[in-house]
Formats: sequence, structure tokens, C-alpha cells
Amino acid sequence: SKGGYKHYMLKEIYEQPAAVQRTLNGRISDGRVAVDAFGPQAAELLAKARHIQILACGTSYHAGYVAKYWFEAIAGVSCHVEVASEFRYRTTVLPADTLIVTISQSGETADTLAALREVKARALGALCICNVPTSTLVRESDLAFITHAGPEIGVASTKAFTTQLVALMLLVLATGRRQGTLSAERERDIVQQLGTLPALLDGVLALDKDIERIAEEFGEKHHTLFLGRGAQYPVAMEGALKLKEISYIHAEAYPAGELKHGPLALVDNDMPVVAVAPKNDLIDKLKSNLQEVRARAGVLYVFADHAADVRPEAGIKVFPMPSVADEVAPIVYTVPLQLLSYHVAVIKGTDVDQPRNLAKSVTVE
Ligand code: F6R
Repeated sequence: SKGGYKHYMLKEIYEQPAAVQRTLNGRISDGRVAVDAFGPQAAELLAKARHIQILACGTSYHAGYVAKYWFEAIAGVSCHVEVASEFRYRTTVLPADTLIVTISQSGETADTLAALREVKARALGALCICNVPTSTLVRESDLAFITHAGPEIGVASTKAFTTQLVALMLLVLATGRRQGTLSAERERDIVQQLGTLPALLDGVLALDKDIERIAEEFGEKHHTLFLGRGAQYPVAMEGALKLKEISYIHAEAYPAGELKHGPLALVDNDMPVVAVAPKNDLIDKLKSNLQEVRARAGVLYVFADHAADVRPEAGIKVFPMPSVADEVAPIVYTVPLQLLSYHVAVIKGTDVDQPRNLAKSVTVE
């Protein structure tokens, strides 16, 4: 049941603090990741992996894209990510000792399964991150990590995504430990950050009413741009996908540094620009990207760390976000973008839980 919510999607957005807690439960021991949470052979495979190849589709691909930043920055292991429907049909060269990581909510996505089958014999091993323990993907992988997000009914994926991100961070930490590239101290610090997520997400859900209030400004628009930098670029991609799926408004995501290489030509006062702006090494660069948008009369909606000094002014709406550690910021900044797409879809009167032309589980190619 929808538990008093108007749509499953909204219910599932609100379930995220509890869902993320379930992903963490039993996976932490003595303040560090329990490596055997990934299965008995995980310790050996994670130590041996020289390269990570992530394969997934749609929202799950965006989770993998965030994890690419994490694998390289936190575990020091090279990582590529590709949509399964491309990977399976091209000739691929795998570096020696590649660990395949597939990500899927359903575990039944045809392209993800086919990509796994195609590559498995050439890889060191295959690990999946999945929400359905009885799925084909779990059966066909050497190692499986179940996210425990609970059933997701809305076609637009929400809690499946944030729990995948938590699972991926645990995997990155376990990998860094086994590779000897991550200090126990940093691991404990990030595990502690993960533990604060349920409360952080509750705090961000409190922005709901403010987001609902501005949603109508998107109702008549035909195009929107989502901007992020670093690990927030795939968060922007996910925000754009959500808006496309359920409100049918064309949305594109760009890493903000690419603006001047083309998309700036599109910017005018009829195309809202949504940006995610946590306080990190890139915040000053992002702010100057936002000025580039303002200078072309672009209208900005910025989800910004309250301490990042992004000031509201004409044409810039700022939504204050809590200060969060860089490592968990992608998980936190995802939530307001989910809420934005939800409220825009409600205003447009679309079928939020069952958007046209889409199926929850894509079991055909
Ligand atoms: C978007 C969405 C889809 C799925 C994709 C993969 O909201 O739900 O993009 O993420 O079809 O599905 P899974 O994760 O089940 O493999």
C-alpha cells in the first residue's frame, strides 16, 4: 500500500532513511566494513582485482558512474563504467584481473545479464549489487551484495539508487582495505559518515515543501539543464533522467566544466538550470560556471551547501543543504532532485508511478 502517500514514488523517496539503514545493517563490524558481507571469496577477489569494470543500465548505471569516482579516489583502483547495452555488443578488451561489478535493482535486466554472460569467462570474477535476492543476476554472479531497499513499485527508481550507492561505497572501502591503499583511519571515518546518512536524509526531506513551491516554475518548460562536477556529475545525470521519465520534460546533464564547450549556447530565460553544489574543492569553479549561466539570463536553481556562500539573487534560487563529507555528498544531493521531478510531474498531471512507455523491469533488449 501507499501508506498514506499519494504515490508509491513519494513513499519510496521518504523510505530512504530507513532503506539506507537496512543496507548498512549487519555490514559494519567494529567501525569498519565487514568484508565477508560480499561473500566468502570476497577477501581474495578484492585483493587481486587490478581493474573494476562496472556494467548496468539506467539509474543503476548512474550509481556505477558515482562509484567510478570513488574506486579511483578512495581505493586507488582503476575503474570503468559502461551501459550494458553498449558493452555487450562491442569488442572489448579487459585489462588483466578485472573484477566485473554489475548493478541492478531487479536483477532481471536483459542487457545487464547478457553483458555479464558475455564477459564473465574473461574476468577475474563477477560481483553484483542487487535488490532482489532470488534474481537471475544474483544466481549468475560469483558474489552478491543485496541492498535490502525493500520492494520498489514506482517505475522511477529512487530508494534502489541511494541504497546502491551505499552498497558501492562499502565495496570501495572493502576493496581499498584489501588492496592496502586505504588507511584504517580513513575507512572508519567514511563508515562513520555513512552512519549519519539516515539523519542527513531526514533533514533533506524537510526541503520538500520548498521544492514543491517552485515546481510549478518548471511546468511549462520544455528543456532543463542539470549541472554537477566530480561525483556530482552522475547525480545531475540521475536528476535529469528522473525529470524526463516522469514529467516528460527534456532534461540533459552536463559536467559544469563542459558548459562553455557547447551547451551554453542553449541557455536563455526559458530553460531552467538546476545545479548541485556541495562545498568541496570544485565549489569555486562551479560558482563561476553558474555566473556564466546568469550572464546569459539563465534561471538557476541551486542545491548548495549552506556554508558554500551561494547567495540567492534575481534569477538564482538557492536551497540550503546540510554540510556533508564529500564522500557521502552524492547520496544526500540525490534526494532533492528526486523531489523536484516528483513535484513537477504532479503539477503536469502525469502518471507518476507508471510513466508512459516505460516498464519497471526491462527483460527484453
Ligand atoms: C529509472 C529506472 C531505469 C532502471 C533500469 C535498470 O528510474 O528505473 O533506468 O534503472 O531499467 O533497471 P535495473 O536496476 O532493475 O537493472
